[in-house]
Amino acid sequence: MGTGASKSTDGGSHGGEEEREENLDQAGGQLYVSLKMENYKRKGDLIPHVYGSVPLVGSWDSSKALPMERESASMWELSFVVPPNHETLDFKFLLKPMYNNAPCIVEEGPNRLLTRGTLQGDARLALFRLNAEEVLEYRIFIHADRVSPFDLAASWRAYQENLRPSAVRGIPDVSINSVQELGAENGSSASLELDLEHYLVPAPSTSANSGLVYAANNTETPRSLTRAGVFNNMDASGSVSHFFKDGGVSVDRPATIKEMEVIVPDSSRVYSGSGMVESKSVGAFSPFQKQDSHRGLLVDRGVGSPRLVKSASASTFAIDLKIDAETKNSMPAAAGAVAAAAVADQMLGPKEDRHLAIVLVGLPARGKTFTAAKLTRYLRWLGHDTKHFNVGKYRRLKHGANQSADFFRADNPEGMEARNEVAALAMEDMISWMQEGGQVGILDATNSTKKRRNMLMKMAEGKCKIIFLETLCNDERIIERNIRLKIQQSPDYAEEPDYEAGLRDFKDRLANYEKVYEPVEEGSYIKMIDMVSGNGGQIQVNNISGYLPGRIVFFLVNTHLTPRPILLTRHGESKDNVRGRIGGDTAVSDRGEVYGKKLANFVEKRLKSERAASIWTSTLQRTILTASPIVGFPKIQWRALDEINAGVCDGMTYEEIKKNMPEEYEARKKDKLRYRYPRGESYLDVIQRLEPVIIELERQRAPVVVISHQAVLRALYAYFADRPLREIPHIEVPLHTIIEIQMGVTGVQEKRYKLMD
Ligand code: F6P
Repeated sequence: MGTGASKSTDGGSHGGEEEREENLDQAGGQLYVSLKMENYKRKGDLIPHVYGSVPLVGSWDSSKALPMERESASMWELSFVVPPNHETLDFKFLLKPMYNNAPCIVEEGPNRLLTRGTLQGDARLALFRLNAEEVLEYRIFIHADRVSPFDLAASWRAYQENLRPSAVRGIPDVSINSVQELGAENGSSASLELDLEHYLVPAPSTSANSGLVYAANNTETPRSLTRAGVFNNMDASGSVSHFFKDGGVSVDRPATIKEMEVIVPDSSRVYSGSGMVESKSVGAFSPFQKQDSHRGLLVDRGVGSPRLVKSASASTFAIDLKIDAETKNSMPAAAGAVAAAAVADQMLGPKEDRHLAIVLVGLPARGKTFTAAKLTRYLRWLGHDTKHFNVGKYRRLKHGANQSADFFRADNPEGMEARNEVAALAMEDMISWMQEGGQVGILDATNSTKKRRNMLMKMAEGKCKIIFLETLCNDERIIERNIRLKIQQSPDYAEEPDYEAGLRDFKDRLANYEKVYEPVEEGSYIKMIDMVSGNGGQIQVNNISGYLPGRIVFFLVNTHLTPRPILLTRHGESKDNVRGRIGGDTAVSDRGEVYGKKLANFVEKRLKSERAASIWTSTLQRTILTASPIVGFPKIQWRALDEINAGVCDGMTYEEIKKNMPEEYEARKKDKLRYRYPRGESYLDVIQRLEPVIIELERQRAPVVVISHQAVLRALYAYFADRPLREIPHIEVPLHTIIEIQMGVTGVQEKRYKLMD
């Protein structure tokens, strides 16, 4: 229960801001205290408890001790709320069974004392003597978060609302299946013999494994440097193909290559058809659509603006809106709200606003590159042609990867000039790319002085709008972690065999930046302050307006780096799958039912210690039935997770469509991404309605199991795997297979488990 207004403490220090503390007392603030025990593995039926003086748990009677709960695989927790000036709490940890008092093992050592949320003394270990030989030792943590009464009330309300779910067509939206897990917790885990590794199958080569690659390596290859022949690793012909070609929809995933390699065209990209570059002619226009392009059943969130779509032959669209060639190219690939909003911005705003430059600002090791990569992935998925330019990559190509900290000193004129030059080259490339039709460029560098930023603003004048995105981090632990990752992964240290030497050099480099760092106070900006953990923090915006900047702020508010898995799976085989019919709302087949049971087993084993995990399904019975054997986790039905609406083709086989509606069949074959079933949906429509699901998946801190359908999972998967829009309708999402996406500090990684054929 962290809050935006709170500052977390570990080990007790409150920062000593007495005035703030007093204000908080007067405002009725409370302390949300959480006691944690690390790495406790159950010993028989013993679980950790806390007991102590009256204000905490009532008495020193062990039968009234409060059980701790398992918060994650390695952490047990007990939390409570007290006034900030609470009287000293006197307590101890003990191990005992949940419902009886024997055996009962109280920790050794003096009582623990807690005053104003701070643990007295240096009592970081809890020691339990089981018998003469066996002593157990666990690390203890205490976190005290200040929370306002409003936060407390809001979280209580949210808790109650979850317990009283609303319903759609009589089916509860949210159901909390409180039947407790009977498996591991009750000692019957022996019956669960599912060996997860046994079901592991290789993920496709285009899978979501960005976490294995240093994020800066995935950014654009510097065209100015490769053109000028600055790096000499080019192929015999000297050509750097693939680089300039993207126009509208063909937003390619950057090739995963080492920096010094030449990019070659990816022959696996087979869906490049030129027809897709036109962004405005959305869908195939059948007589059905002209009468009624939306079926009432689906909530229309602006999916596919009917006016634009119906009148839209490519040429009339361009003439009507007086959109010049440059604008035409910068139109987003996606349909509906995205396209409508972009068109409005383009018509109403100044010409330079049609291209947006997000310019990162921040000290090294503040997560800039990771934030830039995430934002790039999100915007591409929404259909905005977006590229990530990393100035470090330019520097390494031009000046070599092993520059020492001295290179980054502000009083080293050669170093300064070299760094400004590569920043300017990257900005130049970005602007050229925008002039060829690119929509959003993300310039990833420290840009830590006003002078540097002024230079960039000058270069952007009349060409693109700049928003500075500053990442600030005051949490030493996060900075240390980022530094560690940097030494391990950055090409800057690839040739430094001595980790400690690398660390010293990087810290010196950081100090050089700190000496001259000037926070952003100019222009349009978004400041993310301590947002990485997703647990509080602040976001400040200045002079931000328009559709896209608004979406960017919304996305940034909701993302964080807490590692957690997201499991994606289709429902078990349905009766319509057996008959080869699309759409419909049939039950699962016998095989589908077996899959449901296997899935439940899998989920129980994979997420057994994740009490906050949840199961999301669509509102169609094949997903609800597939989820039904899973117990012990809340289940949430989302209309947005329903399968693509096949409109008048719902319930037909592909053969029947080909025979009875050959034009429809051909039109879909030609452009499956944009093709909208008469009175149904296109893939672009599906992507649009999934945006809130993506935001919620980003926002969640606990694991989520998504049980949905082929087209929907293609779209969701494409987001995590950063696959281009045009590939989405063709991505393989087999039945009876779980795709596990591990969200982490360095990106996403994928595993696949095939539970049955
Ligand atoms: O066939 C199963 C199914 O989920 C259909 O209900 C749906 O129309 C189809 O897959 C989506 O896949 P595609 O876009 O390849 O037709």
